[in-house]
Amino acid sequence: MASINIAKLVLGSSDGHRGIPVIGFGTASDDTGPAPMKMAVLEAIKLGYRHFDTASEYGSEQGLGEAIAEALELGLVASRDELFITSKLWCSDCHLHLVIPALKTSLGKLQLEYLDLYLIHWPISAKPEKGILPLDETDLMPMDFTGVWAAMEECQRLGLTKSIGVSNFSRKKLENILSFATIPPSVNQVEMNTGWQQKCLSEFCKANNITVTGFSPLGAKGASWGTNQVLDNEVLIDIAKARGKTVAQVCLRWVYEQGAGVVVKSYNKERLKQNLEIFDWALTEVDLDKISSIPQHKENVKKDFISPEHGPYKSLEELWDGEI
Ligand code: A2P
Repeated sequence: MASINIAKLVLGSSDGHRGIPVIGFGTASDDTGPAPMKMAVLEAIKLGYRHFDTASEYGSEQGLGEAIAEALELGLVASRDELFITSKLWCSDCHLHLVIPALKTSLGKLQLEYLDLYLIHWPISAKPEKGILPLDETDLMPMDFTGVWAAMEECQRLGLTKSIGVSNFSRKKLENILSFATIPPSVNQVEMNTGWQQKCLSEFCKANNITVTGFSPLGAKGASWGTNQVLDNEVLIDIAKARGKTVAQVCLRWVYEQGAGVVVKSYNKERLKQNLEIFDWALTEVDLDKISSIPQHKENVKKDFISPEHGPYKSLEELWDGEI
């Protein structure tokens, strides 16, 4: 492991900006406050993590910003440019006139002058005056995709973010953005793990030069939307035993071998270290075949974005365009 520089393991970026470090540190956690997260960020930087993923919805921007400031002060990284920071636009800010102010608010909390990547969090808007969560079904609104994407492009032109992209977008919704985008999305961040493999979406993104980053690569065990089914899967347990690896490492290696990036959450020093140790070994063809046969089930379907009465998505079929 010592010979591999994690910071240099990056995925290509379609817009010519620097690539995304393959392993990202996830900060979507509903079980801890800012202190454990800040400690974990500092540990992660010491271990070699350079990519940190947040969102206005997670409430982790402030803590992450403080941890980054401390890392710089301590000299754990020489300059902010060594880090790759992603944040996301929340639904109530998915309105043409609110995108730039929302990004500026995120930057203020993060104590940064620019993001590396800014993503539309979900393909849905909510009433502007609504805060983060919970959203009531009467708060849901259709997104003006053209207007919101134009504002995202303006964020990039203004230098507030190096790259722009989306999250939780189906192929159909990506096709829509691509049909009018001046700057195409560079990333689609989606749920991706051995239990929800995203084969078709990954092929589409590859063909359109969009990098896929997988969230919940371990099934988000412990989160309100999460499951133990990924880490408890018998096929993965057998492969892990045979390779002398942990199940988590098999899961992360599998995502990496699909050509995708990964955002994995751990606030535990040992597991943070373990999750980086996936680059000096490989899954075999037989392992990959076995993993392909794992029954598929999406966990984070986002039922609270469905409203038969108020829309804009009246069913899961409409939200995911038949992909789940
Ligand atoms: P912890 O923070 O205590 O390490 P995901 O990234 O799919 O959302 O999964 C996050 C969950 O998986 C968290 O509960 C995290 O707990 C746990 N986790 C992270 N890394 C590992 C690992 N290597 N082995 C087991 N569990 C892990």
